[in-house]
Amino acid sequence: MNLKQLLDDRVAVAMTAAGVADAKAIVKQAQKSEFGHYQANGIMGAAKRQKSNPRELAGKVLKQLGDDMDLQLEVAGPGFINITLSPDFLAGALKKLQHSHRLGIEEAEEKVVVVDYSAPNLAKEMHIGHLRSTTIGDTAVRILEFLGHAVVRANHVGDWGAQFGSLLAYMDQLASQGEELSSELKDLEKFYQSASALFRSDEAFAIKARSFVVRLQGGDERCLALWEEFITESKRHCQAVYDQLNITLTANDIRAESAYNDELPVLVNELEEKQLLVESEGAKCVFLDGFKGKDDKPLPAIIQKSDGGYPYMATDLAAVRYRAGTLKAHEVLYFVGTQQQLHLRQVFAVAAAAGYIGGHQRFRHLPFGWVLKADNTPFKTRDGADVKLVDVLNEAVDRAHRLVNEKNPDLSLEEKKNIAKVVGIGAIKYAELSKNRTTDYIFDWDTMLSFEGNTAPYLQYAYTRIQSIFRRENILATEIKGKFHLTDPAELRLAVKLLQFSETINAVIEDYQANILCNYLFELAGIFMSFYEACPVLKASEPHRTSRLLLCHLTASTLQKGLDLLGIETIEQM
Ligand code: ARG
Repeated sequence: MNLKQLLDDRVAVAMTAAGVADAKAIVKQAQKSEFGHYQANGIMGAAKRQKSNPRELAGKVLKQLGDDMDLQLEVAGPGFINITLSPDFLAGALKKLQHSHRLGIEEAEEKVVVVDYSAPNLAKEMHIGHLRSTTIGDTAVRILEFLGHAVVRANHVGDWGAQFGSLLAYMDQLASQGEELSSELKDLEKFYQSASALFRSDEAFAIKARSFVVRLQGGDERCLALWEEFITESKRHCQAVYDQLNITLTANDIRAESAYNDELPVLVNELEEKQLLVESEGAKCVFLDGFKGKDDKPLPAIIQKSDGGYPYMATDLAAVRYRAGTLKAHEVLYFVGTQQQLHLRQVFAVAAAAGYIGGHQRFRHLPFGWVLKADNTPFKTRDGADVKLVDVLNEAVDRAHRLVNEKNPDLSLEEKKNIAKVVGIGAIKYAELSKNRTTDYIFDWDTMLSFEGNTAPYLQYAYTRIQSIFRRENILATEIKGKFHLTDPAELRLAVKLLQFSETINAVIEDYQANILCNYLFELAGIFMSFYEACPVLKASEPHRTSRLLLCHLTASTLQKGLDLLGIETIEQM
């Protein structure tokens, strides 16, 4: 049940009955659900438009709403209505959530949603910069699937193009020296660096590297075999990162740039037929209004380079064509950094001009900023290289292990290891997800691993504390029978918050801001703690004891589900 939706609807009906035109739209715009209570807004604006007195109009709306005995209503301020939900109403609403794994979240009408995320370039190892797209995209996927949509994970990895020339040439050179390639490829980053260093210092090698690009794109067997070997190793590395990071991507979700190779000449033909292509300095380009480069010159979208090669723009257009045409996506979400804003704007515009995107199909770029160090500089190693993602993940687990050791030295090594993994990885992901998506954020170990504040460890710990209530008396939470009986203000506040889970999820997917869910969970945990201080649970008399146990269980389930949608695990004890 979506509480906000329910109240919005009731207010809209009452406003219409009180003579307000377009009440539904007004309510949708203005209605706000506040912490612990609801407010009917938009009456003042409506009054102004129809030139009536706002408080008077509010009075009329209140009268219409008044038939709802379960709502406590009051005209307030210059003309809004405060709505307080009665204890009976709340108890009834909570009962519907109880023992339902959906926790009040209704299934949406199914849509096909393609989510383009992670998408590293396979020539290098995954680095810290990939954390954002990967975690935010995976959260979107989890939420959309939970809502019942048909989600296609699209891992548009970069596996083609010039950077593979030196890699293949280097592989070829090592092989001819009788080196074992598979062991050389163990450290992809080192391999990439050695190959690039050779490319820069050795002219003969550079010539060979360039010829390898041409041979690869021409379908040369030796080059393709080397390429296959490299790509396979690189994909294995990515999968290991996804598994450690609890990301739902699998090998089947990869649809690499090279997968579109055969469609690229077709694409060029289609654009030619639609008379969109212009030859400029030997390259085939599309020029569209509204795209200006430096000096205000028209900015071309290059579809085929003068040497016949196809750039990033071409594969992205082919991907749009595939997603809209073959997958019939209703919505396609691109979780890609801000620096590619212009590129994607151009891709979408050219695709629209070519008629690849239907009127009902929505392509959206959901950009994000950089990961920074405490001194506001980009997150790099001392010598300016990218920080490997595996190293960051391992460090997170190590740090969490030390914390667990201090906090709970008596646990077995096995338990400590498991907690360290869940807490360390959870902390990294949560630090990422709890920030506004579009801004840069500072990566700080101490803050993210703290057991206080808006962090994963805090929420994971709050969850274990609730679970310990049940453990103490061997109560099976799922089998508690009885009713909600709400009297204490702390119980009422917790009830309202629990009922706001559904509207929170809806708010998250409007703009894919996972921090809305993080804030919700953080507030929920806080409200629970105040409830737990104010209201004894195990020592309370009936009917309070059962009702409070039910509140505890619902809070634990909501925390767990919320974290799960963020891709963060919980443990029973820590
Ligand atoms: N591989 C690209 C990069 O590392 C990101 C791809 C994003 N997705 C896309 N359809 N362009 O920059």
